[in-house]
Amino acid sequence: MKIYKSISEFNSLKDKLSELSFVPTMGNLHAGHLSLIDLAKQYDNEIISSIYVNRLQFNEKGDYEKYPKSLEEDIELLEMNGCDHLLLPDESILDNIDLIKASPKSNKLCGKNRPGHFDGVLTILNKFFKLIKPKLVIFGKKDYQQYLLVKEFIVENNFNIEIIGGNTIREESGLALSSRNNLLSKKNKYLASHIYKALNEINLSKENLNEELITNKKNYLTKLGFDVDYFTACDPSTLEDSFEIYKSDILIAVAAKLGDVRLIDNILLSKL
Ligand code: PAF
Repeated sequence: MKIYKSISEFNSLKDKLSELSFVPTMGNLHAGHLSLIDLAKQYDNEIISSIYVNRLQFNEKGDYEKYPKSLEEDIELLEMNGCDHLLLPDESILDNIDLIKASPKSNKLCGKNRPGHFDGVLTILNKFFKLIKPKLVIFGKKDYQQYLLVKEFIVENNFNIEIIGGNTIREESGLALSSRNNLLSKKNKYLASHIYKALNEINLSKENLNEELITNKKNYLTKLGFDVDYFTACDPSTLEDSFEIYKSDILIAVAAKLGDVRLIDNILLSKL
């Protein structure tokens, strides 16, 4: 795997590269990220990943500073899993960066209590897309809103990029893999698995999908000690609240804090 340790190093070599599939990350890699590299292998491009903790997308300085870092292990994992190129941008990536304003959809779900979060995400991705010029990009659907916003951003800005969404990878307990899981105590990690339990129970009773069912599951998490940011049933394209499971698929999405660790998860209920 070829490692580029700065933007200028990448710029000086990029013209020699063949067509690329891009898997952007903030590092602290786990099986969820590796499943995206595996997905990339199904396409006929070389694979490039990036590791960059983007401070523009953090609302709290503390959250940015304590974001887990494990560069050496990450490099080893990418190498072992067949990634061809790794970009490790230096802070010059932020020089003269165009600040992107995400669409109003960014103010729903994760954007409600994290103003500017998706502006920061799209700002850095816009820079990456222009720098790397990938043919294909791969995003995990655990961050469903991010996946949706990036998908729309690519179309609106006429990038010639195909986007693929990777399914959420879970621990045996059901807990969705996330770099933030490393910040959970053993007890909280066990409690955290109840998010998926709640989502699954909604799936099992989806013929009765209504506000009360969602509120009950939200209260169940609150009683377990979660500080629930949102627990929503919504249309997967507009992200507007919806319980119309007889008309279309419905996204059930959750964000909740355990201590000071923020976790997100979602499932897509298929139309009845
Ligand atoms: O999902 C992430 O890890 C980040 O939001 C991303 C896409 C790497 C942009 O910083």
